Amino acid sequence: MNDTTQQDRVLIFDTTLRDGEQSPGATMTHEEKIEIASLLDEMGVDIIEAGFPIASEGDFAAVSEIARLSQNSVICGLARAQLGDIDRCWEAVKHAGQPRIHTFIGTSPLHRAIPNLTMDQMAERIHETVTHARNLCDNVQWSPMDATRTELEYLYRVVEIAIKAGATTINIPDTVGYTAPRESADLIRKLLENVPGADEIVFATHCHNDLGMATANSLAAVEAGARQIECTINGLGERAGNTALEEVVMAMKVRNDIMPYQTRVDSTKIMNISRRVATVSGFAVQFNKAIVGKNAFAHESGIHQDGMLKNAETFEIMRPADVGLAETNIVMGKHSGRAALRSKLENLGYELGDNQLKDVFVRFKELADRKKEIYDEDLIALMRTATDPESDRIKLKSMHVVCGTEGPNVAKMTLIVDGDERSTEQTGDGPVDASFNCIKALVEHNARLQLYQVNAVTEGTDAQATVSVRMEEEGRIVTGQAANTDTVVSSAQAYIHALNRLLVRREKGGTDKREISYKITS
Ligand code: KIV
Ligand code: ZN
Repeated sequence: MNDTTQQDRVLIFDTTLRDGEQSPGATMTHEEKIEIASLLDEMGVDIIEAGFPIASEGDFAAVSEIARLSQNSVICGLARAQLGDIDRCWEAVKHAGQPRIHTFIGTSPLHRAIPNLTMDQMAERIHETVTHARNLCDNVQWSPMDATRTELEYLYRVVEIAIKAGATTINIPDTVGYTAPRESADLIRKLLENVPGADEIVFATHCHNDLGMATANSLAAVEAGARQIECTINGLGERAGNTALEEVVMAMKVRNDIMPYQTRVDSTKIMNISRRVATVSGFAVQFNKAIVGKNAFAHESGIHQDGMLKNAETFEIMRPADVGLAETNIVMGKHSGRAALRSKLENLGYELGDNQLKDVFVRFKELADRKKEIYDEDLIALMRTATDPESDRIKLKSMHVVCGTEGPNVAKMTLIVDGDERSTEQTGDGPVDASFNCIKALVEHNARLQLYQVNAVTEGTDAQATVSVRMEEEGRIVTGQAANTDTVVSSAQAYIHALNRLLVRREKGGTDKREISYKITS
């Protein structure tokens, strides 16, 4: 084992809450953003990009609160190369113990054409905006968006301007996921060799995964001298996503012999945050995803190879515990008590208050009546769907569905809405549609369903189905989750969960609509 204390530090910059969350459909609620930020802070992420404060009231509020609550991480906000954006960003991040302003402009020919600036005009804009940011905050990051498709000589010129204007970190984005490892490394090397002042700042690498090379490109950039990797949990992000935090962190840990760099990230916290991000974003992790996929550890998927039993290293290059994965075993059954449930959940990373434990315990017992073997995944699904009794104005009392190859699909449903019992019977294009039609008939709303997703939690026909729905009404976006051994019941519960959240959002007011995009128009 190498002595990592003597190794170069690579800073981990997490942008799950900005680049990840801006991915269409991955919108998170305010509370979810706060929770994810606190998990990132706790796991040792150096810099958290908490949002894009000018983009919406919601973004501003989230970045401000994350800044206020931050403990160890630097809190960063994104701003376009406009003075108003930068001021707004500072207003939000200034509450952090360690604030950072990240400002950017697209420097490639295609991006320069959008605001219709000449090379000289853009250079002037960069000087002006980075200087402005630096006058507000002594920690400033600047990014030439689409750097990997920017003319090299022009890139040298603008990076030098940004450094002279006070940028302390220069981020080199591969915005469209176009580069490849050798080129990614060459670019950082050339910048270090050719830009005056380059050795005084930190170079960051920011890769997108359009060609499946984001992790390789980021690590190649580090080998060439970059000392900050920008990434997201589960590789969340627009199109094919961003570099996955768990992949770069584990690559540098497991192959420390050939990538001798250290990070501050506690890798045992990876699984927990991965699950939370999957839940709140509604983007499930693919089964064979590196590090955090359900099948990433062979014995986790039940494949007990002969060799594995004799020596785990036959097939494993890391231990499940290194990423916070407890071994899957039948954990509990219908006779397990409340204390055992609490302790098991604590092992899985959930700290429960007494009221929450009460709710989860009731649902655990219901599940144990229907399902003999309860696995860790089942408990995680229960936790994912824990509701807040205070905000549950709509409750499912009963439902009954008739479906089959012939005749209409009919659902009968009774809901308790604000204490009143309401019942209806509706048909639909399938059992789920029929039950959603019941909910629509019983609770007035104009929300449009944006996402409906079903996953089986474990194997077997008695497996629980977790359902995620996302809906939008007048710019307010809410998500709902539920788990049940009956897929149709789970679907109705997830819809009701989202609707309960929508009622809370209506009362609070405000929208999640982002009027602002990354394009600079003037
Ligand atoms: O991909 C990109 O270019 C970005 C910038 C805003 C840094 O996300
Ligand atoms: Zn990006």
